[in-house]
Amino acid sequence: MVKVVSHPSLAFVKYWGFIDERLFLPLNPSIAMNLDGFYTTVEVEPSDKDEFYLNGTRLGGKLEEKPRKLMEFMRERYGVGHYRVYSESNIPTGTGIASSSASMSALAAAVLWEEGIKLDTRELSTVARVGSGSAARSVPGNYSEWLYGETHEDSYARVVFPKDYWDLRVVTFIISKEHKKVSSWEGHKKAGDYNMVRVKEAWKNWWLARTALEKRDIEMLGRVIVDEMNGLMAVAISSDIIYFEPKTLEVLREVNSHRGDHLYPTMDAGPTVHVITTKEGEGIAKAIAEELGVEYVISRCGDGVRRV
Ligand code: PMV
Repeated sequence: MVKVVSHPSLAFVKYWGFIDERLFLPLNPSIAMNLDGFYTTVEVEPSDKDEFYLNGTRLGGKLEEKPRKLMEFMRERYGVGHYRVYSESNIPTGTGIASSSASMSALAAAVLWEEGIKLDTRELSTVARVGSGSAARSVPGNYSEWLYGETHEDSYARVVFPKDYWDLRVVTFIISKEHKKVSSWEGHKKAGDYNMVRVKEAWKNWWLARTALEKRDIEMLGRVIVDEMNGLMAVAISSDIIYFEPKTLEVLREVNSHRGDHLYPTMDAGPTVHVITTKEGEGIAKAIAEELGVEYVISRCGDGVRRV
């Protein structure tokens, strides 16, 4: 049995809203790093129907919508069979840690590799994208960008800088392990007119983030990261979705008072706060988490999807 591991992709510049719901083609390019502190492994076993297990528990209902969608796509395009899918993960699902980017990229790779179908990274990234948009970026991993494209083939992610190019650290504040009430899939669909303001900003921020990475300019990158978080949260609120928990706000206030120490917070579709920082800032972020009594995980930039 092939065993595959993948990490979640944390976006500096966010994907939110699509031009095609079946293929998950986004409205703007995005840029991200894989988090090596979190992982999902996937092993697949041929079966007469698809079944999904996460940490020993069978998934049902909404939790199996994304893997089912991906399996159907792979069946249609590559003629893959049915599988019993066993995943193990240390990522709390549905809390804003992009668990589906790790799980869908690992699922795509595990099934295709088990079938002996070897795609290049670009094509594998397009397939993973159909399970969960952000999974496109988990496939190449490292510091990656997901390019804007209006067809399935053109909407793919690639490495923009290797993980060793810059030793950034991410301290993830795990505020709650409860699954969010509105899934990111529904969130993308609910994004209304106000999202177009964010999309315009995101195009600009994509270039700024690329430049900041190239120059290893933490202040420049930090401004983009915070701007993108604020834009996403504003769009969510304008669609009646509130991801903040009281503890989220407490963490944000404290982290924001340490801007001079290069602590830059970001959030995805959930209450989790990720603080992107340098090696020096890591200890300060850690101390804040301990002071506020919040569980945390530290990551560096991680590899793309691979066999273990
Ligand atoms: O891949 P999805 O459908 O879970 O959407 C991810 C959306 C964000 O995490 C909020 C942003 C991003 O680019 O990862």
